[in-house]
Amino acid sequence: MPRSLLLCPVDYFTVVYKINPWMDPSIPIGSQDAQKQWQELHDIYKDVGFDVHLIRPVEGLPDMVFTANGFFSIDNKAVVARYRYPQRQGETEYYIQWLKDRNFKVIDPGQIYYEGEGDTFLVGNTIFQGWGFRSDKKVVELMKKTFPEKNGIALHLIDDRFYHLDTCFFPVNEELVYYYDKAFDTASQKAITKAFKHAVAVSDEEALGFALNSMTVDHTVITNTKSKKFVNRVKSDGYQVVTAHMTEFLKSGGSVKCLTNEIWTKD
Ligand code: ARG
Repeated sequence: MPRSLLLCPVDYFTVVYKINPWMDPSIPIGSQDAQKQWQELHDIYKDVGFDVHLIRPVEGLPDMVFTANGFFSIDNKAVVARYRYPQRQGETEYYIQWLKDRNFKVIDPGQIYYEGEGDTFLVGNTIFQGWGFRSDKKVVELMKKTFPEKNGIALHLIDDRFYHLDTCFFPVNEELVYYYDKAFDTASQKAITKAFKHAVAVSDEEALGFALNSMTVDHTVITNTKSKKFVNRVKSDGYQVVTAHMTEFLKSGGSVKCLTNEIWTKD
């Protein structure tokens, strides 16, 4: 079973509305830089051995590049996004089509807001489900019903700068998670420290640089260039680090993980 990823080319990426505290439509996006940075990430994924799939970008849907939000899937079953903000709601139909064309069983949350892998992580046999700003709490039940064979842990997000779980929670493997404690309520912080042998709370500087919005493959961590402290931390914890430039996507409140949907394809 190869490890596959879904990316969306950046042809229409820009910041023209504000749906999170990082976005400011008056700050210009360098579209050539965005193109270069996305290509760099794409090439890193190829180099480390991912099978990279692409979904066609759609004019008028500038945040579609953040494929993490499109759905969450295990094997060929996918829960598709129902976006909180109208500006992104148009993306759902394209993800449904992409999934159907590949014979995924598509579960539609309908009236429940849900933003895919941005708020959902599978770690070993456990699904961690973030809720609060984008995904509704009701999603926790939907996940249990959809994937009854998995354990479920709900995590409540309380700081709107960390509006998706993947901005403040970076599970490297079943034993190690880097997280930003202040982004969670007390019960969720406890749940995290209980679930992992090593739960490492990072500094404000690392979290605000989107260091936790990262990817892992085997013993390699792919993260953005901003926080040297995080890069050094991960190295001293025994991992290799590959860095990607993400300045243009940070202006939209996104980085490495947001641009990436991890899928498992059966072949
Ligand atoms: N501008 C996008 C939004 O606010 C960024 C999405 C980032 N995605 C993520 N998985 N954190 O919706």
